[in-house]
Amino acid sequence: MGYYWSPVVKLLICIIIPLILVSGFISLMGGPNPSNWVSNYQPFSSSGDINTKLRPNSQVSTKELKSKIDGIVEGTAEQAAETEHSVFAAPPLAIQAAVSPVFAPAAKEESILKDMAPNSTDIIAALSLNGTHDPPTRKVKLEKVTTHLDRLEFGLQKARAVIKEPNYTNRTFNDPDFKPVGPLYWNANAFHRSYLEMEKQFKVYVYEEGEAPLFHNGPCKSIYSTEGNFIHLMEIDSKFRTKDPDKAHVFFLPFSVVMMVHYVYRRDSHDFGPIRHTVRDYISVISNKYPYWNRSLAADHFMLSCHDWGPEASFSVPYLKKNSIRVLCNANTSEGFRPRKDVSLPEINLRTGAIDGFVGGPSPSHRSILGFFAGGLHGPIRPILLEHWGNKQDEDLKIYTYLPKGVSYYDMLRSSKFCICPSGYEVASPRVVEAIYTGCVPVLISDHYVPPFSDVLNWKSFSVEVSVKDIPKLKAILANIPMRQYLKMYRRVLQVRTHFEVHSPPKRYDFFHMILHSVWLRRLNCGIIFGYIVFGEEGAKNYCPQERGWKGVEFKFL
Ligand SMILES: *[C@@H]1O[C@H](CO)[C@@H](O)[C@H](O)[C@H]1NC(C)=O
Ligand SMILES: *[C@@H]1O[C@H](CO)[C@@H](O)[C@H](O)[C@H]1NC(C)=O
Ligand SMILES: *[C@@H]1O[C@H](CO)[C@@H](O)[C@H](O)[C@H]1NC(C)=O
Ligand SMILES: *[C@@H]1O[C@H](CO)[C@@H](O)[C@H](O)[C@H]1NC(C)=O
Ligand SMILES: *[C@@H]1O[C@H](CO)[C@@H](O)[C@H](O)[C@H]1NC(C)=O
Ligand SMILES: *[C@@H]1O[C@H](CO)[C@@H](O)[C@H](O)[C@H]1NC(C)=O
Repeated sequence: MGYYWSPVVKLLICIIIPLILVSGFISLMGGPNPSNWVSNYQPFSSSGDINTKLRPNSQVSTKELKSKIDGIVEGTAEQAAETEHSVFAAPPLAIQAAVSPVFAPAAKEESILKDMAPNSTDIIAALSLNGTHDPPTRKVKLEKVTTHLDRLEFGLQKARAVIKEPNYTNRTFNDPDFKPVGPLYWNANAFHRSYLEMEKQFKVYVYEEGEAPLFHNGPCKSIYSTEGNFIHLMEIDSKFRTKDPDKAHVFFLPFSVVMMVHYVYRRDSHDFGPIRHTVRDYISVISNKYPYWNRSLAADHFMLSCHDWGPEASFSVPYLKKNSIRVLCNANTSEGFRPRKDVSLPEINLRTGAIDGFVGGPSPSHRSILGFFAGGLHGPIRPILLEHWGNKQDEDLKIYTYLPKGVSYYDMLRSSKFCICPSGYEVASPRVVEAIYTGCVPVLISDHYVPPFSDVLNWKSFSVEVSVKDIPKLKAILANIPMRQYLKMYRRVLQVRTHFEVHSPPKRYDFFHMILHSVWLRRLNCGIIFGYIVFGEEGAKNYCPQERGWKGVEFKFL
């Protein structure tokens, strides 16, 4: 397990001070015994200044709730609104009973939820994602239902309509910064509309519970830098972050798995217990203190991690894995990553913490090397690559475990047409973004990997995918790409760079905003009313059968 550790050790000048403080603390407590340390550590003290609006916990039976929903359906929204405090404002107790966020018995929950599922094509029509399906008649009624959640959902419904509105195709936007164009995007216009809608309304609530170093904190350098950068940028954000949880579309769980591995995992113990314990405690705190986790069964909550063990940490709590939006570098579909619900986070090795001097490279005519890779033999794929192409076996493909003395890694990236990005211990590789930064066309060799932003970006237009079994043919595959095709890909690599750049403060369409946009799309894919997840994968399974036409947004078209 040492290999997981070494990058962690290399990292984090930016947390060196907390590290010193904590190691001092540990030694005061009688030595580095992390299990001691975990049980004595109190990471969840409230920051105190948060205005927690806990709703009245009134008693609501399944029957009452159902009739209330039917009432809305029959157009008596006014009546519904009158009793909003007793019904809509409180998380339905029947759901609460069914749903323990930590130890939920799945079968029981499903039967109760099914029983309570809204049974009305009208609500389907109102929340239908088919934008051409005219919501106006429902619009009036829904507006009279005045819970915060209804308002949010109504806004989201408008956004869905705008995004899917084909008549917007020709409209120009007052967007001086940027206009997505070209085959780089699945649908440049829909993406643009979605992005602008996000800027108009999207709000994120960051739970304030928890303390550094495990919470509200993370590495800003090293291969895990995107974890720390997102957490920090989210904390200081003033545009998308709201301090009022009732105005939030999504809820961010600001814990850092890298920090947990650093501080609560006992090195070489192979024991995830302390990490799971920490995550579980945190969810327990926020789901008891606030109604939001229970309300949506975590479907509007998101976590983020660039650590190899990010997925492992998410397995700590069933709903975290099953329902929440997990933003992960380790986006391995064989390990439960679900592209419709989860978000692939780019892995960016920021050695200095900034991208200055990192971005840019010469034009294609100055790139004499066909393909380049240098790196350790981590994981199952790289040994195959090395076996076939390593150790100067080939003039045009430069594949190294160790670079020759005096040769600069970045110079090699900048002198190459194609940069080989095989998975290592986890599916993501920082080489993908290194290639994009330096103007080298990435060659992805991975199994079960979902590349970042593939909801919006057509990776095939600016990268090459080579399957593991084709590694012996790698040179032929690259050499047979016509010059014209390569030049197109090269130009698109320069174009897509904007979306991978890390800025502080963030800039529009950069890494930070693209991650937010990916989360925004997942939230759009999920309707939450009266405590139900209406669509979204779980919803679709439990109470949105396809034959009724309840479909989530197919955001692949973006
Ligand atoms: C959420 O559900 C859990 C488990 O059923 C319960 O213990 C907790 O009190 C609920 N939270 C709120 C805010 O009602
Ligand atoms: C749902 O609606 C259908 C059609 O109106 C009706 O046949 C069915 O009994 C309803 N189901 C429930 C559980 O009310
Ligand atoms: C959207 O609604 C229109 C009109 O009812 C229908 O023809 C079309 O098939 C629907 N599209 C989808 C994706 O459901
Ligand atoms: C879209 O534009 C066409 C042609 O301009 C028009 O006939 C149609 O009614 C428009 N559809 C909507 C939903 O506005
Ligand atoms: C979109 O623009 C094209 C070319 O400018 C034009 O021919 C077409 O009629 C426009 N479509 C709509 C719906 O306005
Ligand atoms: C992806 O997950 C599968 C199943 O757990 C595993 O066998 C494979 O090694 C993983 N890929 C990487 C690169 O870690």
